Amino acid sequence: MIQCPRGTRDFLPDEMERRRFYEGKLRETAKTFGFREVETPIFEDSELFILRSGPNVLKELYAFEDKGGRAIALRPEMTAPAIRMFVNGMSNEPKPIKVFYFGQCFRYERPQSGRYREFFQFGAEIIGGATPQTDAEAIAMASSMLKALGIKDYRLRIGHIGVLRSKIADIGVPPERTAEVLQKLDKKLYDEARPLLEDMGVSSDDMDDLFDLTETIGGTEVLSKVPGEAGDWLRQVVSYLEVMGVDDLEIDLGVVRGLDYYTGMVFEAEAPALGAEKQICGGGSYTLSELFGGEKVFSTGFAVGFDRALLALEKEGAVYDYDGIDAYVLCASDDVRIKAAEIATTLRSSGISADMDIMDRKMAKAMKFASSARARYAVIVGARDLENGEVTVRDMNTGDQSNVRIGDLVERIRGRCAVSRFKE
Ligand code: HAM
Repeated sequence: MIQCPRGTRDFLPDEMERRRFYEGKLRETAKTFGFREVETPIFEDSELFILRSGPNVLKELYAFEDKGGRAIALRPEMTAPAIRMFVNGMSNEPKPIKVFYFGQCFRYERPQSGRYREFFQFGAEIIGGATPQTDAEAIAMASSMLKALGIKDYRLRIGHIGVLRSKIADIGVPPERTAEVLQKLDKKLYDEARPLLEDMGVSSDDMDDLFDLTETIGGTEVLSKVPGEAGDWLRQVVSYLEVMGVDDLEIDLGVVRGLDYYTGMVFEAEAPALGAEKQICGGGSYTLSELFGGEKVFSTGFAVGFDRALLALEKEGAVYDYDGIDAYVLCASDDVRIKAAEIATTLRSSGISADMDIMDRKMAKAMKFASSARARYAVIVGARDLENGEVTVRDMNTGDQSNVRIGDLVERIRGRCAVSRFKE
C-alpha cells in the first residue's frame, strides 16, 4: 500500500473541518487587527532562503533543480516570501503594510509528535518601520490569536536579540560566526557553546556573562536589568501591551529564535503540555527587504505553528464536533429520484446544506446513511405525498415526522436550523 511521504499527513473530513474552524478564528482575529491576506508560491528560488535564514533552516531545506536547471526550494517559512512580494509589488504602498498568510511550509526535519516535514503556519507581517507600537501590535495579535483558539496553558516570552548580538560582538566573536553561537544559545547548549567560544578566543568570564544574560528571565520587573536602548525599547513595548490587554507575558533574554534575520525584539509562545516540540508561535522584528533588492524597511512579524496549536488544544481536551448537514433527501421508491434531486437543489440554492441519496438505496438504508451524515432533517420523497404536493420531514434527533408542502420546505428547515447559519 502506498502511504503519504514521511513527515506528511492526510487530513480526513472530520479533521479538515476542525482545521478550517480554527483557521477561521485566526483569520477573524487578523482582520480585527486590520491585516489583509496574501498568498505567495509554495516554491521559490532557493536563493531567497539561502540569503538570510541561517544554518538551522538551510540544512532542512527541500531544495532541488527543476527541469530548466533553476535552483528551487519548497518554502521552509513565509517571511522571506512575504518580503520578496513586498519588494516586487507593494513597496510604494502606504505604510505600514499589514499582511497575513496561511499555508504549508516544508522542513526536512526528523518527524515526531508536533514536528512534521510538511506543516502549516498562520503568520503575519507588519512592514513599515521600527516602533515599539509595531512590536506591541504583533505581540498583541499573537496573544489574541492564542486566546481566540482557546489555548489555556501557554507561556509568552519576550526578549531582544539585539542585546545578545551586541554582547556576542563585544566579547570578540567574529560577525561571520555569530549565527553559530546563537544557534547553541537558542537550544541552551552551553556545554557545546563553551568549546566553540574558546576556539574564538573568548575568555571564560565573558562566556559566563553571556550565558547569564540569556538567563535574564522573569516578570516585567526584570526589564530594569536589560541594558541600554534595548531595555528602553522593551519597556515601551510592554507599556503598550499593558493597555492592549496582554497580561500574560514574561521577559526572557534567552529567546534566540532559530532564524537568522531578527534584529530587535523577539518573542515565542510555548505550550508546556506539548513536551519537546512545545513552541507554538514565534516572531520578532527584522529587516530583509534590502537583501532582495529593495530599500531597507523594518518589519515585525510572527507565525503560529498551526499544527502544534491544534495539538495543544487536543491535549487540553478541547473537542470540536462535526456540525453535520441540515437535510438529507431520500426516496421512498425509485420513481421519485428525479423529483428528489430537484428538491435537494431547491434546498441548496436557498443556502441549506443538503445531501441526497445517489446510491439508489432503499429507504431504511438511506435513513441509516442520513444518520451517519449527521443530518438534522431527513426529507423523505414519496409518490403518494408528491400527489398532494408534499414531502415527509423527519427530525433526526427526536424521530418526529410531519408532512410539509414542498413550497414551505425551505422556510420550515431554515426556521428550525440554527438562525446564525442563514445570515443573508
Ligand atoms: P519559526 O519559529 O521557524 O518562525 O516557525 C514558526 C512556528 O512554526 C514555530 O513556532 C512552530 O510552532 C512551527 N513549526 C516550525 N517547524 C515546524 C515543524 N517541523 N513542524 C510543525 N510545526 C513547526 C518562522 O518561520 C518565522 N517566519 C516567523 C516570523 C514571521 N518571524 C517574523 N515573521
